[in-house]
Amino acid sequence: MGSTMSFALNPEREREMEDIFSRYPNKQAACIPLLHLCQEQQRWVNDDVIAFVAEKCDVPTAHVKGVVTFYSLFNQAPVGEHEIWVCQTLSCALRGADKLLHHCEKRLGIHHGETTKDGKITLRVAECLAACGQAPMIMVDKTYHENLSLERVDEILDALVGK
Ligand code: FES
Repeated sequence: MGSTMSFALNPEREREMEDIFSRYPNKQAACIPLLHLCQEQQRWVNDDVIAFVAEKCDVPTAHVKGVVTFYSLFNQAPVGEHEIWVCQTLSCALRGADKLLHHCEKRLGIHHGETTKDGKITLRVAECLAACGQAPMIMVDKTYHENLSLERVDEILDALVGK
């Protein structure tokens, strides 16, 4: 079938995709890991990515759309260059996660779920990221920052916004 999709993986991720397919019993089962791979490349999942994954995994686009809406880890709108996830689950909550979140919101001038005007940072809340012993914690892109104080958060934000 002729295709008009405009999303393509770069060569390195193309190889990763082959790898993913070789690890799953069937193409459909590779839908979620493949979505992650695409999101890694362009940071959010748009209709082009959905069409791409549907074709590769041999499933209807409605199926892929369903997966994307179900899992909160998939971005359905453009996100900033960096993503800050503030854990809000019990251990972190007990150790001041709320204060930490408000501090970030104030410093960045946005609410969680939003992106700074310059497109640099998206702030979000997360469910337990499995570092409860080091609460409170945040994840910046894929890096964990643990046992946080507000001063330490300021340092992390400074480094991110390049001040
Ligand atoms: S509660 Fe925050 S990492 Fe588990």
